[in-house]
Amino acid sequence: MDLVPAPLSCRPVEGASYVIDRHTALSAGPGTEGVARWLRSALGAATGLPLPPGEGSGIALAVDGALAPEAYRLAVDAAGVRITGGGAAGVFWGVQTLRQLLGPDAYRRAPLAPAALWRVPGVEIDDAPRFGWRGMMLDVARHFMPKDGVLRYLDLLAAHKLNVLHLHLTDDQGWRVEIKRYPLLTEVGGWRARTKVGLRESTLWDERPHGGHYTQDDIREIVAYAAERHITVVPEIDVPGHSQAAIAAYPELGNTDVVDTAALEPWTGWGVNPNVLGVSDATLAFYENVFAEVLDLFPSPFVHIGGDECPKEQWKASPAAQRRIAEQGLADEDELQSWFVRHFDGWLAERGRRLIGWDEILEGGLAPGAAVSSWRGYAGGIDAARAGHDVVMCPEQYVYLDWRQAEGPDEPVPIAHARTLEDVYRFEPVPDGLTPEEARHVIGAQANAWSEVMDSARVVDYMSFPRLCAFAEVVWHRLPPPAERDFAGFAARMDAAHYGRLDALGVEYRPPGGPLPWQRRPGVVGRPKDGPPPRR
Ligand code: ACM
Repeated sequence: MDLVPAPLSCRPVEGASYVIDRHTALSAGPGTEGVARWLRSALGAATGLPLPPGEGSGIALAVDGALAPEAYRLAVDAAGVRITGGGAAGVFWGVQTLRQLLGPDAYRRAPLAPAALWRVPGVEIDDAPRFGWRGMMLDVARHFMPKDGVLRYLDLLAAHKLNVLHLHLTDDQGWRVEIKRYPLLTEVGGWRARTKVGLRESTLWDERPHGGHYTQDDIREIVAYAAERHITVVPEIDVPGHSQAAIAAYPELGNTDVVDTAALEPWTGWGVNPNVLGVSDATLAFYENVFAEVLDLFPSPFVHIGGDECPKEQWKASPAAQRRIAEQGLADEDELQSWFVRHFDGWLAERGRRLIGWDEILEGGLAPGAAVSSWRGYAGGIDAARAGHDVVMCPEQYVYLDWRQAEGPDEPVPIAHARTLEDVYRFEPVPDGLTPEEARHVIGAQANAWSEVMDSARVVDYMSFPRLCAFAEVVWHRLPPPAERDFAGFAARMDAAHYGRLDALGVEYRPPGGPLPWQRRPGVVGRPKDGPPPRR
């Protein structure tokens, strides 16, 4: 049946099957009405069949509170298809499995002629995810992805049973979410003059402005669309580093006593930027106002505050920052960053939310309720889990989707080391050496699509797929330890069915044999990362 991600258990029922046709009714038990609406719309588009409400032979959706919320059972026999989930989310994941069972054409948006026979093979599936946080991050700051592209990615995540979309909404090069109180964030901070083609060393520029942002209504639509798919959208407002676009819009946010922040523009370079936020009361108040609007838009329990790559040079030179260090009795600039993060940790906690940040927030002491996105390898995540903090594992060496997918000159984004499909399949979110109690703090993992060199959704597709399929299986299934994983079996399922599903979905993945001619990008300068990828 070539399911991706593979279910925990799958028993074929010999000789049985059910054909979905114009007589098939769709019955939605209490709590499954939203899933039924989604299924009727998705399968209705692909098949042209109406799937009217009704009992009897057909598709039956139900909630059974005895199962875990995201777990489901799917049973197919001659009478029909029964999908029972612990909650609506479980039913939704079961429905995703049903769609896979129907074959690649079930992913089309209009029926093919002549009409297909929609035969569901007889099967009994028991399934549940390994992790509660199965995420992807889209960097919509470096290259803006218009709303339609984000909605499409939500569909792609849902098809792979991924349930978190982390939106990296702000960075030095662009601010992408409308904040009503501070319109210049998007009017000024949303546009940079030009873009490097390639990484830092590149001497090529595209010589045209780049920008765009989501209105608050766009965000509401994205969040609602995600919720219909049982996906949580986690917003990231990156502070106190990666903030040049905000400082360009409102120069008073920067370290005005050491740099002429009024002269700054949204950054046109890549890398780590020295222009970080100042630590005045006014800057804190500004960001409280920003976060207040963000909380109104995003119901996510977690709010990401970035915290990565914040150079401390300006704070070292700034009398105002040094006064803050003295006044708070802090040891150094690392503790100043920690103080900054703690401020927002407390502020979010008072509003019933939890702070999550990149693993640099561990430096100088981690705020009590904070969770960590462990990106510089496993070490930050291990330290955080040992200290009792929740961790989302996203070590760059395994699951940064901007790392190239193979050696060789044809890969379009020549960044860092090659991380193949097999490498991602052998990614293990829970590192060795954690006790079971510590390991429970690893609440999941995510794959991050940084977009410095992904200047269109087509390139994001190429870099994300098929590796995101392997990632989805890692976070959903209970795979054996990395060395024992059946990568050949996974690759065979991809070949037999899943590339066909991606084709029907219009995903421009990296073909197993390497990039197509148009997917190569010769002449774009990249930068290898230092040192080999670390072992777990
Ligand atoms: C990061 O990659 N700077 C989180």
